[in-house]
Amino acid sequence: MTALGAEAESIRTLTLLMVAAAALITVGVLWLAWHAVRAPEGRLDHAGGMRVIFWLGGVGPTLLLTVLLASSLPRMRTLPTDAGDLEIAVDGEQFWWRVRYRPPGGEAVETANEIRVPVGRTVRLAVESPDVIHSFWIPGLAGKIDAIPGRTNDLVVRATQAGTYRGVCAEFCGLSHARMAFDVIAMEPAAFDGWLEELASPASGAPGAGGRLFEEYGCEGCHSVRGHFPGSPIGPDLTHFGARLSLAAGTLPMTVDAIGRFIRDPSAFKPGVPMPAFRDMPPEDAESIAVYLSELQ
Ligand code: CUA
Repeated sequence: MTALGAEAESIRTLTLLMVAAAALITVGVLWLAWHAVRAPEGRLDHAGGMRVIFWLGGVGPTLLLTVLLASSLPRMRTLPTDAGDLEIAVDGEQFWWRVRYRPPGGEAVETANEIRVPVGRTVRLAVESPDVIHSFWIPGLAGKIDAIPGRTNDLVVRATQAGTYRGVCAEFCGLSHARMAFDVIAMEPAAFDGWLEELASPASGAPGAGGRLFEEYGCEGCHSVRGHFPGSPIGPDLTHFGARLSLAAGTLPMTVDAIGRFIRDPSAFKPGVPMPAFRDMPPEDAESIAVYLSELQ
C-alpha cells in the first residue's frame, strides 16, 4: 500500500486512522460483551447499564465521530494550484483515454492511453467525457474522479516518486469497461520536459510501405499521425504510438504481432470497440502496418 502521490498519501493516512478507530471500537465492544456474560449473578444492575449506554453509546461515539469528521473534511479539499501548473485534459472515450497536454504558454499536444507526469510538480487533470460516464482512477496517485459528459471535473495530483503506475476506469461504461486501463509514468522533471518536447514533434521521415497501407486501408480516416497523416481526431492519436508501453488501452503488449492481430480483429480483444475489423486484410499487410506503427517512436 505505497502511496506514490500527495493525494494518495492523505487518503492512506485517513484510511489508517479510520481502521485504527474501528479496531478500537471492536475491541471495546467485545470486552463489554465478555464482561456482561462472565459477570456473576447480581453484579450488574439497571442503573449501571444506563451509565454504560450514556457514556459508551452516546458521548463516546459522538466524540469519536466528531474527531474523524474533523480530520476527513480538510482532506476533501483539492491541492492548491497556480496558473503556471501543467494541465492535462483527459477524455474518457469508448474504450480508451484521450490525453491532451496543455503546458502553460505552449500548444496542446495529443496522445492516448498513457499519462506522464513530472515528479514533485502539481498537475491539474481536467477530466471529461463526450458520451457516457467513466471514472478515472490512478490508485497510486489519488482518489477517483468521474468523467461526465458536459462537465469538467478537476483532479489535482502531485507524484512523489518516479515510477510506472497503472490507472483504470472504475465505473461500468460498456462492454470493454474492464479494458480501458492506462499507464501512468512519473518522471524526473527534466526528463519529463524533454519527453513532452519529443511528444510535440511530428513523426519523422516518410511513411514508407506500411504507412502507404495505413492510408490505403483508410486507417488515417480515424487516426492521426502528425507529420504523416494529420487531422483526424476520431480515434487515438498515433503520432508516437510505438513509444507507448501498451496497446489498446492497457489490453495488449506493445509488439508488432499484437498490433497486427488487433488491426485484423479489434473486437476479439475489446468487445464493443467502434473500430471496424479488417478480417480480410492479408496478415502480411497487417504486419507491415504494425511495423510502421511500432516505428513511430
Ligand atoms: Cu470507461 Cu468503465
